[in-house]
Amino acid sequence: NPIRDLAGEHLLITAGGTREAIDPVRFLGNRSSGKMGIALAEAALKRGAKVTLITTASRAVSLGCERVLVESAEEMRTAVLDRLPGATALIMAAAVADYRVTNPAAQKIKKSGEKLTLELERTPDILAEAARLRPSGTLILGFAAETERVVEEGRRKLREKGVDAIVANDVSRPDTGIGSDHNAGVMLFADREVRLELSSKWTMAERILDEVHRLRVLRDRS
Ligand code: C5P
Repeated sequence: NPIRDLAGEHLLITAGGTREAIDPVRFLGNRSSGKMGIALAEAALKRGAKVTLITTASRAVSLGCERVLVESAEEMRTAVLDRLPGATALIMAAAVADYRVTNPAAQKIKKSGEKLTLELERTPDILAEAARLRPSGTLILGFAAETERVVEEGRRKLREKGVDAIVANDVSRPDTGIGSDHNAGVMLFADREVRLELSSKWTMAERILDEVHRLRVLRDRS
């Protein structure tokens, strides 16, 4: 019997890679599978939390988990910010596109003999925005997929985005991270760090939720 230590929490979890339209049939995307976010959602549900999964991945999730399907960074942003006031924690495991096409074509782009140039603009940083709007007491956690200087980059994001924790993982390893069933990394907090040894995404989800529970206990005491 799982410990229902997350009873009373309402977790907002994002999963998957966003798809940014080029035209009605094409998009810019990434290799995220949504598995890490789904593992977090399933584990949190078992531990008694109410869960809303905002995802681009159409994979099935357990009954009892509210699922909101989105496609683009903008749609994910709206879905997250709309629900943030009712949540006790936000975990952004999604791989949100950093750039989108400035003017997606209304009709399918025809090929020609010429080169084609797409103009890209930055997407809004949902995690940073959520942290700025944070209702008091709401925990905000992000991920950082890095290929070098994993801890340094993770620490910078922790500071710059103003979040409670960052799960930084090395996606240059062939055995972990994007698309894989396994993950490894380090969870960074303002005052400490927790190594997350190579494990299944299910085990890693449990470790991350242990830390969410710990943050909650600390927050309630202060
Ligand atoms: O800056 P970077 O993309 O590495 O940050 C990763 C973290 O920020 C992830 O938690 C991701 O879900 C979130 N993010 C976001 N909006 C963006 C880009 C990233 O919320 N536009």
